[in-house]
Amino acid sequence: MKPIFVLNGPNLNLLGLREPAIYGAATLKDVEARCRDHAASLGLTIDFRQSNHEGELVSWIHEARDKASAIAINAGAYTHTSVALHDALKAADLPAVEVHLSNVHKREAFRHVTLIAPAVTGVICGFGVDSYTLAITALHFHITANKKG
Ligand code: DQA
Repeated sequence: MKPIFVLNGPNLNLLGLREPAIYGAATLKDVEARCRDHAASLGLTIDFRQSNHEGELVSWIHEARDKASAIAINAGAYTHTSVALHDALKAADLPAVEVHLSNVHKREAFRHVTLIAPAVTGVICGFGVDSYTLAITALHFHITANKKG
């Protein structure tokens, strides 16, 4: 089975240092380890990446078309602005979950808008690092159900 691409957008490299009251104390390395262990427990593998550049994220989503079974993406602030990521996710035509550590709907009004949500299978937000593992579980269910169907 191809890996699940777990893609992270801008500022997530600063996880653990950045606004810990909102985003928690775990670093991105910790998140990656949690995702890798959780995926392994489900018999899955992941390809975990982070970029501060919108175009690089677009290119990784294009790469996922051939190389991934599914996508989990925390696009950070690009969630709220990026038509390019929306279009790339549509083009990828893969099961995909939009992930956020924080509950964006509880926060500033500009975070209530997501341009990515209409282009993905589902959205998980507000559970801290568990948002990522829940996304992997959701993709596992989705992939397995589609295989049976
Ligand atoms: C975030 C929420 C976004 O609004 C914010 O710009 C981030 C992180 C989250 O994981 O909660 O960078 O995606």
